[in-house]
Amino acid sequence: MEVKTSLLDNMIGVGDMVLLEPLSEDSFLENLKKRFDHNEIYTYIGSVVISLNPYRSLPIYTPDKVEEYRNRNFYELSPHIYALADEAYRSLRDQDKDQCILITGESGAGKTEASKLVMSYVAAVCGKGQEVNKVKEQLLQSNPVLEAFGNAKTVRNDNSSRFGKYMDIEFDFKGDPLGGVISNYLLEKSRVVKQPRGERNFHIFYQLLSGASDDMLKKLKLERDFSKYNYLSLDSATVSGLDDAANFRTVRNAMQIVGFMEDEMQSVLELVAAVLKLGNLDFKPESRCNGMDESRVKDKNDLKEMCELLGIEQSVLERAFSYRTVEAKMEKVSTTLNVAQAYYARDALAKNLYSRLFSWLVTRINESIRAQAKTRHKVMGVLDIYGFEIFEDNSFEQFIINYCNEKLQQIFIELTLREEQEEYVREGIEWTNIEYFNNAVICDLIENNQNGILAMLDEECLRPGTVTDETFLDKLNTICAEHQHFESRLNKNSKFLNDHSLPHNCFRIQHYAGKVLYRVEGFVDKNNDLLYRDLSQAMYKANHSLIKQLFPEGNPAKVNLKRPPTAGFQFRASVGTLMGNLQTKNPNYIRCIKPNDKKAAHIFTDSLVRHQVRYLGLMENVRVRRAGYAFRQAYEPCLERYKMLCKNTWPHWKGPARQGVEVLMTDLQVPAEEFAYGRSKIFIRNPRTLFFLEEKRKQCLEDLATLIQKIYRGWKCRSHFLLLKKSEIVVAAWYRRYAQQKKYQKIKHSTTVVQSYTRGWQARKLLRELKYQKKCEEAVTTIAAFWHGTQARRELRKLKEEARNKHAVSVIWAGWQGTKARRELRRLKEEARRKHAVAVIWAYWQGLKVRREYRKFFRANAGRKIYNFTIQRIMQKYFLGLKSNLPSMSPIDKSWPARPYSFLEGVHAELRRIFHLWRCKKYRSQFTEEKKAVYEEKLEASELFKDKKALYPSSVSQTFKGDYLEMVKNPKYQKLSSAIDEKILLADVVNKINRANGKSSPRLFLLTKKSVILADQKTGQVKTSLPLPDLSSVSTSTQSDGFFALKLKEGSSSAVKGDFLLSSDHLIEIVTKLHRISSLAADREKLNVDISDEFLVQFKQDKVCVKFIQGSPKNGNSVSCKRKNNRLLEVSVPTSP
Ligand SMILES: Nc1ncnc2c1ncn2[C@@H]1O[C@H](COP(=O)(O)OP(=O)(O)O)[C@@H](O)[C@H]1O
Ligand SMILES: [Mg+2]
Repeated sequence: MEVKTSLLDNMIGVGDMVLLEPLSEDSFLENLKKRFDHNEIYTYIGSVVISLNPYRSLPIYTPDKVEEYRNRNFYELSPHIYALADEAYRSLRDQDKDQCILITGESGAGKTEASKLVMSYVAAVCGKGQEVNKVKEQLLQSNPVLEAFGNAKTVRNDNSSRFGKYMDIEFDFKGDPLGGVISNYLLEKSRVVKQPRGERNFHIFYQLLSGASDDMLKKLKLERDFSKYNYLSLDSATVSGLDDAANFRTVRNAMQIVGFMEDEMQSVLELVAAVLKLGNLDFKPESRCNGMDESRVKDKNDLKEMCELLGIEQSVLERAFSYRTVEAKMEKVSTTLNVAQAYYARDALAKNLYSRLFSWLVTRINESIRAQAKTRHKVMGVLDIYGFEIFEDNSFEQFIINYCNEKLQQIFIELTLREEQEEYVREGIEWTNIEYFNNAVICDLIENNQNGILAMLDEECLRPGTVTDETFLDKLNTICAEHQHFESRLNKNSKFLNDHSLPHNCFRIQHYAGKVLYRVEGFVDKNNDLLYRDLSQAMYKANHSLIKQLFPEGNPAKVNLKRPPTAGFQFRASVGTLMGNLQTKNPNYIRCIKPNDKKAAHIFTDSLVRHQVRYLGLMENVRVRRAGYAFRQAYEPCLERYKMLCKNTWPHWKGPARQGVEVLMTDLQVPAEEFAYGRSKIFIRNPRTLFFLEEKRKQCLEDLATLIQKIYRGWKCRSHFLLLKKSEIVVAAWYRRYAQQKKYQKIKHSTTVVQSYTRGWQARKLLRELKYQKKCEEAVTTIAAFWHGTQARRELRKLKEEARNKHAVSVIWAGWQGTKARRELRRLKEEARRKHAVAVIWAYWQGLKVRREYRKFFRANAGRKIYNFTIQRIMQKYFLGLKSNLPSMSPIDKSWPARPYSFLEGVHAELRRIFHLWRCKKYRSQFTEEKKAVYEEKLEASELFKDKKALYPSSVSQTFKGDYLEMVKNPKYQKLSSAIDEKILLADVVNKINRANGKSSPRLFLLTKKSVILADQKTGQVKTSLPLPDLSSVSTSTQSDGFFALKLKEGSSSAVKGDFLLSSDHLIEIVTKLHRISSLAADREKLNVDISDEFLVQFKQDKVCVKFIQGSPKNGNSVSCKRKNNRLLEVSVPTSP
């Protein structure tokens, strides 16, 4: 496909008349013709599209073409109606401006076609979707329905619209169609009952008869033959190129799509059939007694069938055609109708029936296509009104149609010529005024409220008295006589008196598009548009839902005596509303031109086109356009739209909008002659400049979109990244925690293992040390035992050698026995220990076995470690407890803390033994030599007397003082002591028992190493000195007395005196010392000590027995001694307490 970049490329003639050079009417026409001949039927005057009817189908409305023009600039491609439609749609969608498309031109110039092309283009380019498509389809399909009922073949157009149509298509903010509203203007209903020559009734009648099935026709009580129906003209019943039957199917299909119910369609067709039937009613006169003729229905069959179709009682309708009831001031007057009146009534009914049906159809279609959403709509109005008409015979309808066209021309002039020029002046743009014909005067002639033609017609209609079309014309003749556009034969203005082209019953108006001669006949009637009340009431009574709706005024309950508004009045009002509506929207013009009168292709009738160009004011249009500016826009929206093209104005311009636009234009280097600054708007001369701006904007928007996208993507990625980062931190924190936990557990585990090993090692080391210590102790004990054994054996040998001491032998024997016993005990103990050890080892081995078995379940070695630790702790505690609980250091202290655990028994006993030995040693080590001697004496005393003499225990606590008399110090004994040259070991006072009577007398008793000396207590004179070797033994009793006998050896020198019986408080000491001295002297025998309660003493020659008895209490506490006879000396000793 060839792509054009400019309107000027490959152009036939000039596409835009603004660019035509030189500009003249001839060149204008020539350009149009040239283009028409090359099938270029569209030409621009700026934004206005001129459309020439090609009268043949051209291949320029294909979907490809739609795509080609879609979203393209208006001047970018060769002129086309699609370019205008696209411009209007985009401006509606993108700039939110309501649009109206004004299509003007003569009848047959192609307006209806153009409107359909615009609609189909918009439908093709706007949004898609199920709902939207349905709306579009309904909007488009409303056309065939309305065309079938509202279009007819005329001499000018085979498909001439016989009604005005204005359709508002509503869009949402996206530009998707939401629905629409159709307004219809004055249907040419006279066509129902009568058609001019060469013309047809409305299409639907022919379509129904040709297209309906036999069945349907039968139901509607119709016959297929057109000639059977009076209302259908026969001369052009079939039109070439028009397939009525096919069109009927199209119409029914369209009705279905639009949303008509099956019964609604049936009702509509019944009405159409009824109209045809109505046309066939004929009336005949019947003379009445008052001489007046009264009409009667001639052939009642059609009436009957019609009444059956509409459900009307036949007699009611029949009567309505014969009588007429007039109601005035509560009075009802019934008059008969003559035949002519009956025909008038019949036609009036048919016209009303049909036109009301048509209005109902429009209302019904509107119901279907009305936009559902209540949101704000954007609106595109398409106006396809009947074109300017000049027939041979022009009546009220043409007058109305042409008036409407005058109004449209007026709006065109207002907006394109006058308004534009005035705007230049208002905006202070340099401007030279361009002359044009303003048809406001003609509009005023017709619509002026006081003396306008329509106002006068209404006045005539409402005037009491006889009113005819002629009286109306008379009125016009008087009132409009001076008007330069009004012409009449009877005008007071004599210039038309001889104008034979102007019949007497006509008036002529110089319309903007030409002079039109109107015949006044029927003006009053058509304006009144009266239907006899009897007929409307008959219709209201019909048992047919649609008919009843169409004739609401027939309701007897709502009798309204007021006249309904006249047709002219209604039309004027609705045209007024339409004009008001159009003025609020942005106008887009399509000016249709008819190239010839023959409805033929390829024919360009110069004069005809020239005429249209003239009255359409196209030349003036071009001139204004050329002198002026193609485009204008207020500064604010202009700046808003193009501010992105300049750095200074983007994104915000702080100053006034005009300055902003100036900066923008300077920055863009637009040549100064291309635009002008008005007071509130900028004016751009050439469309090309606008394209340039738009092109730049488009590019810029793409860049901006890229920028926005870039920022958005950046933002999106960044927020995504931040989210990821945040999540990563959370995950890492959790993971680190987990890892640290794991690591900690591992370290803890390892520490426990290391710790347990270390503790195990330490425990083993300690155990080894303890074992070694124990072994050492055992060794020491063994050695000691051996040493003691050696010693003992040596002693034994010595004792054996001496063989004198049986006691010693027995001691050694006992010691040996003891050793043996102990050894045996030890052996037994060892054996028991071994057995115990075996049991323990067995238990350990069992435990080990079990542990090994259960090692997989328990931690290896833990038990042993815990055991070792526990043992160690117990030992520690035991030792520390023992340390703080030790008994006193006294060797005789037998106390020893209780053993806490049975396994410690051996150790506990051993420790007790060691401790005892040690404290004995300590005790011993504190003794001096003297003290030692004293103790030795004491020991010897013990050996001698312990358990043998009752006196002994009391002596234990007494110290062996020895010198009780203090011989050296006491001067009393000075002499005595000096007489003794030996050291005195003992000095005391003793009692010497008189051998004869047992009485005692005190004597000093002195003991030296060699002798015992007895001296007088008072004089200190030595009485007896006994050398110790002379003493054989000493005897004492077993009792607590202090008596002792010194026995002398027989034959010794001292023996002469006999033995001595003495008593002393210090008996134990004296005897011990005596014994000691004797045992220490190596040259002497040991002194014997006899302890017995009966012993013999040698008194001179006599041997006297000294007997000790238990004293009776009468003797008191003292010991008494009595000589019983020669042989017996009795000593009574008090019983010891
Ligand atoms: N663009 C066109 N292409 C082909 N034929 C057209 C075109 N416009 C109009 N015609 C023909 O001219 C006839 C009259 O057009 P129409 O739109 O009905 O006229 P108007 O509505 O102005 O009276 C149509 O029936 C059609 O045959
Ligand atoms: Mg039309």
